[in-house]
Amino acid sequence: MLLFLLLIIIISSSTSNEIDSDQPFQPKFDQSYETISVVVGKRALLPCYVSLQDAKNNELGSFKVIWMKLNNSSILTMEDRPINGDSRISLLHAYAEEWNLQIDDIDEDDAGVYRCFTNNGLYKTLVLDVKVPPKIINELTTEPYPSSIRTGSNFTIKCYAHGKPTPNIRLLSYHQSDNVQIISEQNQVTIFNISRHTNRRYECIASNGYPPDVSRSFQLTIQYAPEINIFINETKILDRDVFVNSESNEIRLKCQVSMYPAGKVYWIKDKNRFNYNYHIYHTENDIVSELIVTYFTNNYQGEYTCVASNLVGTNSKSIQLIDLSTTTTATTTTERSTTRYQRTKSTQSVTVPYSTESLRMMTLSSEGNLQ
Ligand SMILES: *[C@@H]1O[C@H](CO)[C@@H](O)[C@H](O)[C@H]1NC(C)=O
Ligand SMILES: *[C@@H]1O[C@H](CO)[C@@H](O)[C@H](O)[C@H]1NC(C)=O
Ligand SMILES: *[C@@H]1O[C@H](CO)[C@@H](O)[C@H](O)[C@H]1NC(C)=O
Ligand SMILES: *[C@@H]1O[C@H](CO)[C@@H](O)[C@H](O)[C@H]1NC(C)=O
Ligand SMILES: *[C@@H]1O[C@H](CO)[C@@H](O)[C@H](O)[C@H]1NC(C)=O
Repeated sequence: MLLFLLLIIIISSSTSNEIDSDQPFQPKFDQSYETISVVVGKRALLPCYVSLQDAKNNELGSFKVIWMKLNNSSILTMEDRPINGDSRISLLHAYAEEWNLQIDDIDEDDAGVYRCFTNNGLYKTLVLDVKVPPKIINELTTEPYPSSIRTGSNFTIKCYAHGKPTPNIRLLSYHQSDNVQIISEQNQVTIFNISRHTNRRYECIASNGYPPDVSRSFQLTIQYAPEINIFINETKILDRDVFVNSESNEIRLKCQVSMYPAGKVYWIKDKNRFNYNYHIYHTENDIVSELIVTYFTNNYQGEYTCVASNLVGTNSKSIQLIDLSTTTTATTTTERSTTRYQRTKSTQSVTVPYSTESLRMMTLSSEGNLQ
């Protein structure tokens, strides 16, 4: 049997299909080179049609066709049945002339060159081209939630996909406004000098014309040092000096801190850690530490510094609370109203004794618990 197969292979390659005129019967078939494209998982049908018009009955009996896969030198069918034990393979031989090879549930390894031979050395060659929809290669692609990144650093997003043909890659960036922008068509893109405001969400889409396209989202978490704003009541304070009318019966001094990851927030009054009727809470992105002075007197004058620190850094912001009546004792009422907005460094030197408060540090752990 093996000898017979070897023989036909040798004949087929040496005679290159010349028709021997001594032979009374030659089956004819289309010997064109054909490419069949099939998507992975589907069924492939490889046609082999042999014309038997001139055959006599006694010649048909000895007529044989075999199918081979050349890449792995494997014989797939012989006469009218599959022989390699692969249950996906069958021979469709409903008509005498038809010897079609069917392969179900195509996988990528089925790609290659197939040949349908007759026992007199004619053959037809087919290329089975297997198309593979894109699939993200996890080992080479950035994970969906990469560990947090510090401001100022660079970060490279990688996206690789397997597929046949090789998938095209698009990397999209999502802005807050839900605007989408293609930022790269390469497998890797580096975002330089990451800032707190760097777009947080990216998405990679791989496509090769054989659906479904696949995608992966990346959510970046950015570590940044505390950013501090001070408010009195609900007004954001931009100047260092704040003049307070001692008739104000309540002052809400608020330190709003934005930072990631969470860290400590505390107040210092005139170089001492300070704690007076405080209140600390979280908003969506921020930590707020609020000091409430229920009745403002001279004693509460001075420099109030809000200090915030996390593992990226420490920042602080100070304001100087000045009792309006103290600073204006030597001036007239009209002068007061102008200096109120023009006072600069000179007002910082105003020192007034204040009652020492019990000192307690407000520490906010990353879980948000007071320690
Ligand atoms: C050769 O390829 C065919 C079709 O892909 C497969 O069915 C067969 O198992 C392979 N044979 C070997 C020896 O790998
Ligand atoms: C099969 O073999 C042919 C010729 O030997 C080669 O061109 C082709 O790349 C091979 N295909 C695969 C899938 O190995
Ligand atoms: C970011 O990339 C730029 C350009 O390659 C390089 O000069 C810089 O040192 C990198 N920054 C960091 C923090 O690695
Ligand atoms: C990085 O960005 C910050 C602002 O976010 C900017 O001040 C700084 O100059 C930038 N550094 C480089 C090397 O571009
Ligand atoms: C802050 O608000 C309280 C009442 O909510 C008011 O009595 C007080 O005068 C305000 N303080 C300042 C400095 O505006």
